[in-house]
Amino acid sequence: MSNKNETNKGGDSSGRGSVAGYKVNFPARMRAYTEAEIAAVVDVMRNGEVQTQGPCLKKFEADFKAYSGANYAFGVDNCMNALRLASILCRIGPGDEVIAPGYTFCASAIPFGTTGATLVWADIDKDTWVIDPVDIERKITKRTKVLLVVHLLGMPADMPAILKIAEKHGLRIVEDCAQAPGAALHGKKLGTYGDFGCFSFHGAKNITTLGEGGMLTVKSDADAALVPGLRHDGLRPFPAGRERYWVPAMTNVDLDIEKVWPNNFSIGEAQCALGSELLKTLDEKNDVVIAQAAKLRAALKDIPELRYITIPEGYHMVFHQFVLHFDGSKFGKNRNDLLDYLTETAGIRAIVQYYPLYRYPLFQKLGASLHDCPVIEDWWDNSFSLPWWIGMPDETLDYLVASLKAGIAVLKADKA
Ligand SMILES: Cc1ncc(COP(=O)(O)O)c(C=O)c1O
Repeated sequence: MSNKNETNKGGDSSGRGSVAGYKVNFPARMRAYTEAEIAAVVDVMRNGEVQTQGPCLKKFEADFKAYSGANYAFGVDNCMNALRLASILCRIGPGDEVIAPGYTFCASAIPFGTTGATLVWADIDKDTWVIDPVDIERKITKRTKVLLVVHLLGMPADMPAILKIAEKHGLRIVEDCAQAPGAALHGKKLGTYGDFGCFSFHGAKNITTLGEGGMLTVKSDADAALVPGLRHDGLRPFPAGRERYWVPAMTNVDLDIEKVWPNNFSIGEAQCALGSELLKTLDEKNDVVIAQAAKLRAALKDIPELRYITIPEGYHMVFHQFVLHFDGSKFGKNRNDLLDYLTETAGIRAIVQYYPLYRYPLFQKLGASLHDCPVIEDWWDNSFSLPWWIGMPDETLDYLVASLKAGIAVLKADKA
């Protein structure tokens, strides 16, 4: 099997999905649905009176608010649109600057780029691999308006430090929690530290509402009041007291925010019913994946060439993925040499993610190529993700460990 330079042989465009010829694939979905979750969807199909904007949306929002401790929660069709709503509510545009981590998925930054504001890339912390508060502070200018914090891989960023910076400079904070539902810092759930929290229930996440879905959490009453209209076509009731409900029309269209067009970012009832059901066991699911990660980390701890994320005291990381950093410089080998072994000899479809955003053609063409992020540069060239899903069998974990050890031994011997 030669996997070098492979075009997409199957799976999805992110490099996930089952590809023939591999013993261990990187699945497109983290876990299977339970019977209770399936029943929740079927119940809406059979009995739901409305398909959208109904009781399941209200319940999902109430459940998410209770689960997360957020002041407000609004269901949306995906996390990118939760981020888009947050970016609109930050009221930014050309001439403003948004500090964002250079290391994240493209959807984190695109909504802020869309506003016309300038994206300023911050580096990641060398141990926790999420946005570094020290680098944020270094990059603040008079034009900075927003700090976009991404809790990538399910790892909390240092929110107390970031809150202090935001307070000092009068900045708004948007938390991208796409990969971190259920993650917490010092007992407080992520998405409740900043002004906004944006969650994803996409198919590759720890929980998914049928492939797409999202949630926006909001701190202030003033921002929350604007979300329903912005999310759904600017629709709102006419003032009470009309003689005929159809005059002048069924619903009014207006927004209490200047120079902004509304959108339709709605999520359907069946997805919401499923979302409420998924929340009931989210902690359990996260515990399974956390235990899995602990087992893998313990088994790999004596391999000096491999390094993994450092989780400080009080950080509850939910391991959306399992990422490793490889340093084979002592024997003249690099990450690609190890991945060649894993893919070609061991049949493990490891992948590399995420490419620094400022290196992508899209961001470069749109003028977002300036960067000064040495940790990301080193990190990207030396890191990789193992196939990962919730409930991996022990034999698979053992096989990953044995293959990593064997691969590194082969690379060392090759030098001798
Ligand atoms: C860090 C991050 N932000 C945002 C998103 C966008 O989520 P969605 O696919 O729900 O729009 C993703 C999705 O993969 C993500 O990983």
